[in-house]
This record gives sequence, C-alpha cells and structure tokens, in this order.
Amino acid sequence: MEIVIQPTPAEVDSTVADIVEGYVRAGATTLGLATGSSPIGTYRELAARHRDAELDFSLARAFLLDEYLGLPKRHPQSYYSVIRSEFVDHVNLDPAMVSSPNGEAQCPEKEIARYDQSIAAAGGVDVQLLGIGTDGHIGFNEPGSSLTSRTRVKTLTEQTRIDNARFFDGVDDVPHHVLTQGLGTISDARHLVMIATGEGKADAIAAAVEGPLSAFCPASVMQLHRHVTVVIDEAAASSLKLADYYRYALEHKPSWQSF
Ligand code: GLP
Repeated sequence: MEIVIQPTPAEVDSTVADIVEGYVRAGATTLGLATGSSPIGTYRELAARHRDAELDFSLARAFLLDEYLGLPKRHPQSYYSVIRSEFVDHVNLDPAMVSSPNGEAQCPEKEIARYDQSIAAAGGVDVQLLGIGTDGHIGFNEPGSSLTSRTRVKTLTEQTRIDNARFFDGVDDVPHHVLTQGLGTISDARHLVMIATGEGKADAIAAAVEGPLSAFCPASVMQLHRHVTVVIDEAAASSLKLADYYRYALEHKPSWQSF
C-alpha cells in the first residue's frame, strides 16, 4: 500500500486525477467509479482536463460500485443518475458504456450474478476509485462483510443511512437496502485508489491502513491487495501512527516509480 498524504483536498483531487489520466491516456481502459462526495473533486478535475487538455475518454468504459435497491434510475440520488450528473455528462465517456447494478431489478438475485459476469466479461477493472464510510465501509460493504464477498444485496447500518441523509430530504428517505460489489469483486480490480479527506475520515483510514485485517473494517481488505494507493489530506491522515514514514517514503520515492 502506498499512502500519499497531501496538504489539501485540492491536491488530493489532482493526485487522483493524475492517476486516472495515466490509465485513460494509455488507451482503452476500464474505470471503476465511486459515488459519494469524496471523488467529486477528482471528477471535476478530470472534466477540466477533458475540456482544456484534450483528455479523451472515448475508449474508456466504467463500472459503478453500488446502487440503492428500489430507487428508480431517474431519481436524482440513484447512483445511476449521480455518476452521470457529477462526471459522465462532463466528459466524452459514452453513457452506454457506464454500467451499474440495476436497483430496479425485479429479481435482485439474477441482477447480482449478471453484474459480476458483466465486469468479468469486460476483462475486469483497471483502476477502482474508492471512498470510505465512517464505519470503514467501501462500496456499501458494511462491517461484517465477508472479505471475499461478491456483488450482493446488503442492509445499510443506521449510521450510513444517517451519513447519507444529507443527499435526501431526510434519513427516512434513505433506502435500507442496496446492491453492492463485494469485497472480493472490488479486490479483483488491478489497482485500488482510495480517496479520503477531512477529520471525520481519520479513524476509518487508520483502521483500514494500520488496523488488523478484519471484516469489522471492510476497507482493511485493501491490505491483501498488491496495488493500492491511498490518497488523503492531512486531516484524514491525523490518526495514522506512521504518517511521518509515509511522508518520508513519498519524498524519497525513486523518480522512475509511478503510483
Ligand atoms: C456511500 C458510498 C460509498 C462512499 C461512502 C462515503 O456509502 N456507497 O461508495 O465511499 O458513501 O461517502 P462520502 O465520500 O460522501 O463520505
């Protein structure tokens, strides 16, 4: 795992945008996109590079991590809608090439199998963006999630529903159930890039990076992955015991080594 501590959220956004840009400029690539507020700055930065620096997404395709079960696609807070309004509408990524679990599926059991198969059929995800919940969840894998789980239906914790209530009219409008890529599905991506800013994420980041590998902190599954970049600001790094070492390692990184 490489831990990249940046002074400000803006520098977090541009570092993550640099990583994504590298994949997009290399040719056809499959992006793993996350929703929530953490990647929004990165999406804006990528949209600016598309506009001003000819960053071309026409050969890219994308898969989303998760979706609310039962929320219509047209609902502004469905992740189907959010990824379009926050990112896809601002770049030349073909919306037909942006896949997400169908929260309106009549048979969720069939839908979860279909979704995992479609990721595999596309050759897997090259780079997966991840946010982290205050309880350490990634995608919507709440504490207790099997570390090898596949896409499936999960029940949100009350804390996650409270955290996400800001996107709805109130907590009562936040669905209880979701479809989410499992921790095993997410781990199949070839490069995981976690984004976190603000003090509210400090404990979750410390548990994910320095805590024990445990289903209690689902993001700790990153410790088993061979290519992980955790990009955080000083506030989100404030509970890390080895923060000075991570800064030192970054400062002394060989110039030939990329993220
Ligand atoms: C939701 C999403 C996650 C996201 C998390 C954190 O639960 N399903 O993918 O990482 O929220 O959200 P935020 O980035 O807004 O803090």
